[in-house]
Amino acid sequence: MKVVASLVLAASLSAVAFPAAAQFAKAEDAVKYRQSTMFVMSQHFGRLGAMANGRVAFDAKAAAENAAIVETLSKLPWAAFGPGTDMEGNTKALPAVWKDNAKFKEASEKMMGEIAKLNTAAKAGTLDALKAQFGNAGGTCKGCHDNFRAK
Ligand code: HEC
Repeated sequence: MKVVASLVLAASLSAVAFPAAAQFAKAEDAVKYRQSTMFVMSQHFGRLGAMANGRVAFDAKAAAENAAIVETLSKLPWAAFGPGTDMEGNTKALPAVWKDNAKFKEASEKMMGEIAKLNTAAKAGTLDALKAQFGNAGGTCKGCHDNFRAK
């Protein structure tokens, strides 16, 4: 939780105080940041998936907490895909992220929209509501990875 809290704090401060390009001291930091936020997000997203798929028992409180964390984290990686952060070797981001940036941005917006709906669904407090939206949200992860992330 400490990591998440400081990520959230960093995001809210930087969104207010700095333009996107000036957020990171080094390109490596931007790469680490986006990979870390994606990683932490996927851990919490996976906990929702385990409930949606029946691998663990549904727990309304845990679902609501994890979905809220995922929604916050879903907003963070994008500022770390700025110009000059397409470093070969350290990143799995494909050149298409920068060459086809409008499409990449669109995919990130689609994901944030579906994750916001997932958060609403999780707050409804039923397994059916969670199940109904989990697949839509997961589809937006895969949709972007297929086009913009190396295997
Ligand atoms: C708009 C595009 C996009 C969307 C949407 C997206 N990702 Fe990613 N994701 C990427 C890219 C690009 C990378 C590679 C980043 C890098 O290596 O610099 C990545 C990397 C990752 C990684 C590896 C992180 C690491 O440890 O290096 C995980 C895990 C991940 N994403 C999970 C998710 C999950 C879960 C979702 C949906 C809830 C999601 N992503 C949505 C583009 C996206």
